[in-house]
Amino acid sequence: MSKHSEIRNQFIGFFRERGHTHVPSAPLVPQNDPTLLFTNAGMNQFKDVFLEQGSRSYSRAVNSQKCIRVSGKHNDLELVGPSPSHHTFFEMLGNWSFGDYYKTEAILWAWELVTGVWGIDPNRLYATVFAGDDEVPRDEEALEAWTEQTGISADRISFHGRKDNFWEMGEVGPCGPCSEIHIDLGAEFCRRKDEPGHRCAVNGDCGRMVELWNLVFIQYRRDAEGILHPLPRRHVDTGAGLERILMVMEGVRSNFETSLFTPLIAQLVELSGEPYHSDARGIPHRVAADHIRALAFALADGVLPSNEGRGYVLRRVLRRAARYGREIGLETPFLHRLVEPLVEVMGNDWHELKERYD
Ligand code: GLY
Repeated sequence: MSKHSEIRNQFIGFFRERGHTHVPSAPLVPQNDPTLLFTNAGMNQFKDVFLEQGSRSYSRAVNSQKCIRVSGKHNDLELVGPSPSHHTFFEMLGNWSFGDYYKTEAILWAWELVTGVWGIDPNRLYATVFAGDDEVPRDEEALEAWTEQTGISADRISFHGRKDNFWEMGEVGPCGPCSEIHIDLGAEFCRRKDEPGHRCAVNGDCGRMVELWNLVFIQYRRDAEGILHPLPRRHVDTGAGLERILMVMEGVRSNFETSLFTPLIAQLVELSGEPYHSDARGIPHRVAADHIRALAFALADGVLPSNEGRGYVLRRVLRRAARYGREIGLETPFLHRLVEPLVEVMGNDWHELKERYD
């Protein structure tokens, strides 16, 4: 079994053992939600539950969700290429509690899975907690859970503001403070190590620390006037990037060096004759390898490049991939040549890729 399938199965199995129902990934085109062009998080399909506008037969769920982040509040497009760990399309491993368990269990289980099942050394891990502001107080409950449930030392917990530790799906909708698990990739990953006085930090910009898992505690709804309203029940919404977990588990330096991406990069090297490098020379390879995933999965879910709405977003992704391709000499259409290795790597887990291959 491929490593990414194993990680996905371990995540789903871990939460099923703890009473969660496995729910299939929603399509990339959000159903009945005009506030979103593309599904940008695992929680999207449960928005009605958080807002008490709908219900499910279960109060705990787990899944691996196809996500695209190229528009609206969550847009990583310009990071793709320079960054070793950002994508337009990625898989978000998530678990949810709908008014059931809360911070204690969410934090304990995330820690158990990361350090126990996946065996990641706790000495490489950091936790973050919402620092509080004039709208929402500091998250004492999460701090207590980290301290009491995981045994993580106080010097590995840091407090951050709204930008990093308060998660909102869009301009309106469910939201709440969050806690994240970050990993220290090692001093050699710092891009600023030669700058005098630089100190690597969680949520810093030097690349050494990478967020692995976001645990959101949904307890508010933001309305169109920007006002926060407490929800009648409190929920858990988590998201861990499968590609980043894979990077750590395979012991490589970048998501693009994992077994999910190497067949795509190899095909690009073959087509262009340009070797791949992990530095800026590899940006065109990374952009094309990333963008073909967003394009293929969006096409498989019925979105076509066009002049408006989500079709236009897709067209921009397509053009960006083609433009970077030209930087490595790919002057004629080449993106379709990446579909075969993509289907080989991901088609067993995502049947729509095989079904819509043509
Ligand atoms: N909904 C949690 C996240 O996207 O990080």
